[in-house]
Amino acid sequence: MTDRETSPTRLTLIQRPRRNRKSDWSRRLVRENTLDVSDLIWPVFLTEGDGRRDPVGSMPGVFRLSIDLAVQSIVEAAALGVPAVALFPNTDPTLRDETASVALDPENLVCRACRAIKAAAPEIGVITDVALDPYTSHGHDGILRGDEIVNDETVAVLAQQAVTQARAGSDIIAPSDMMDGRVGAIRAALDAAGFQNVQIMSYAAKYASAFYGPFRDAIGTNKTLRGDKRAYQMDPANTDEALREVALDLEQGADMVMVKPGMPYLDIIHRVAETFHAPTFAYQVSGEYAMIMAAARNGWLDEERAMMESLLAFKRAGAAGVLTYFAPRAAALLRE
Ligand code: PBG
Repeated sequence: MTDRETSPTRLTLIQRPRRNRKSDWSRRLVRENTLDVSDLIWPVFLTEGDGRRDPVGSMPGVFRLSIDLAVQSIVEAAALGVPAVALFPNTDPTLRDETASVALDPENLVCRACRAIKAAAPEIGVITDVALDPYTSHGHDGILRGDEIVNDETVAVLAQQAVTQARAGSDIIAPSDMMDGRVGAIRAALDAAGFQNVQIMSYAAKYASAFYGPFRDAIGTNKTLRGDKRAYQMDPANTDEALREVALDLEQGADMVMVKPGMPYLDIIHRVAETFHAPTFAYQVSGEYAMIMAAARNGWLDEERAMMESLLAFKRAGAAGVLTYFAPRAAALLRE
């Protein structure tokens, strides 16, 4: 007698995938990917002053911190086990100019923050962004001549900016500018200055994305940006081009590569990780954070679950880690 004869509703199935999902212990046992505190990099916005904690309107729960408060929060993040922070300055508008001169000032906000963080929390890695947009009056990542962001001249400045940051104690230089040849130039400049051990995490595949809007609010470039960044950041339509960009950055000495934005580009993260087997990071950018928070604040999404699921998705896609504004909260949850 077959099953079907004894009960018309019972299927004869050899494989029942639900068996492995029937209990928490079993789900844990067969789980393929996990999110760990060690996967998290926390991007931190900096502002001048003392005791300042200015909310970023389009990013609920995110603040621009003066160095003293940034150091406090970063000490706490280090205690939770967050391995690294990435620093982004909101430069005083009066200090921004056509050529981004403050980018090379060893007393700029990022350099001072770097020294303060290394002194207070030597166990956490400090990542500094190499690009000129926080320092230019026009909001572009490079030097503007007419209506062109000139590549080679910009690269020369970026290499000096990287050395300035390394002198301030930066552990990882993260060029986010998308100029051609910048990784090689930065590696050579760092080595020449004696910083052979300073790492490079390149924003290798960085797309011209609408999802950076809230970030530009945070660093104060939204209103000043002249035009857009499509002549240097990648076209969202392209995949193979991302692989070529990553190949170039690795050839030129990148230790780690990044794909940005994150969630809309999981396919790119996956292909990069599978193709190169190099440490590949995802940046869950400001707009992705804003979307989750906006829906959660409206009661349309469960904030914690959406946060954790979005972060795990990067691991599943093959990322070694994630830059995320959720880092301190996710770390606290993972520690519970
Ligand atoms: C700029 C830079 C951007 C981000 C990191 N570095 C924005 C841009 O390219 O305009 C975006 C990060 C985010 O949206 O969270 N060099």
